[in-house]
Amino acid sequence: MQEFHVTPWEVSGEVDYDRLIERFGTSPIDEPLLERLRRLAGELHLLLRRRIFYSHRSLDWILDEYERGNPFVLYTGRGPSGHTHLGHLMPWMLTRWLQERFGAKLLFQLTDDEKFLFKQELTLEDTRRFAYENALDVVALGFEPDKTEIFLNTEFIKSQYRLALKVAKRTTFSTARAVFGFTNETNIGLIFFTSMQSAPCFLETERQGKPVPVLIPCAIDQDPHFRITRDAAPHLGYPKPALVHCKFFPSLGGGSKMSASSPESSIYTTDPPEVARRKIMNAFTGGQESVALQRKLGGRPEVCSVYSYLSYVFEQDDARLEERYRACRGGEMLCGECKQYLAERVLEFLREHQRRRERAKDRLEEFMVRD
Ligand code: TYM
Repeated sequence: MQEFHVTPWEVSGEVDYDRLIERFGTSPIDEPLLERLRRLAGELHLLLRRRIFYSHRSLDWILDEYERGNPFVLYTGRGPSGHTHLGHLMPWMLTRWLQERFGAKLLFQLTDDEKFLFKQELTLEDTRRFAYENALDVVALGFEPDKTEIFLNTEFIKSQYRLALKVAKRTTFSTARAVFGFTNETNIGLIFFTSMQSAPCFLETERQGKPVPVLIPCAIDQDPHFRITRDAAPHLGYPKPALVHCKFFPSLGGGSKMSASSPESSIYTTDPPEVARRKIMNAFTGGQESVALQRKLGGRPEVCSVYSYLSYVFEQDDARLEERYRACRGGEMLCGECKQYLAERVLEFLREHQRRRERAKDRLEEFMVRD
């Protein structure tokens, strides 16, 4: 088995998601928990039904509190190092659905500080610019302005600094090094940064003067930050934040994670539709070397990035997805046809998203908070 690594700043190798649950000490979202969610929400979001969101911490507690009349606040974010890609949208889509179904308030943190510290080549002006670009994608997803606060860390520091300090004081360098793999060459800003990502977990409790449960939807790479937050919380008199984790939306090149550092194998929300089509037509698939072999042996949807895209969100119909799997395995369907199909679905999504993104420019200020 090939080794794999998952931290907030690096994902490498073929990720084994079940092993990650063991390694991180999280819990699988099992059938009874899904049933409970279905009952409370009235239905299940596709990303839950398809087990893309597959792991959690304390989600059962969040639902206990909700049923006791103590509603939760949602918290998620983005490190603005470039434009938003489709992978980033996964946690935000579930967050949007949770806001609607549970009437929850959302805190959305844009870590322009983090990406400035992490990326040698980026200035604070660059990360601020990307933060505002990324915020348009958040607004485009349809969050409710009166229940959503979006902020850049450099512009909302007063409200967060005291909370970050409390976490920082409880977190040793040795813990941070073990969790994130820091070395002697790591700059000291990055060592402190995790306490900034913790701060919003406690913000509503401070504001309301009573324990407010917080639920964080994110991909599993962000979990290490919140292990630190959860360790600190009881010492600081705050409830531990709960999490739901998703798997990574894969790279079009066949790797585990769509990553901004590989532009040809990522689809950005700002890509002109024809660019997105080209990337899809060049994607890694599970196809055989020739048409004749494909007809004879069939394709391998398990390793195919095009099939993954369809199964994550772009084919919502379960029966049609199953039929495609069967036709691929049986050699009846060739990769070109499948790529065309996916390209149509993705382009349809992009055109609509880009329209909404344009409209978001006039509404952004309804969402932004500063101090
Ligand atoms: P960032 O900008 O790396 O990623 C933003 C969100 O997208 C998730 N993500 C993915 N999800 C599915 N498939 C992918 N290929 C993929 N790549 C990234 C990330 O897990 C994240 O949820 N430090 C954070 C920003 C942040 C944050 C938070 C994230 C601040 N506060 C609270 C989650 C929750 C970051 O750099 O995310």
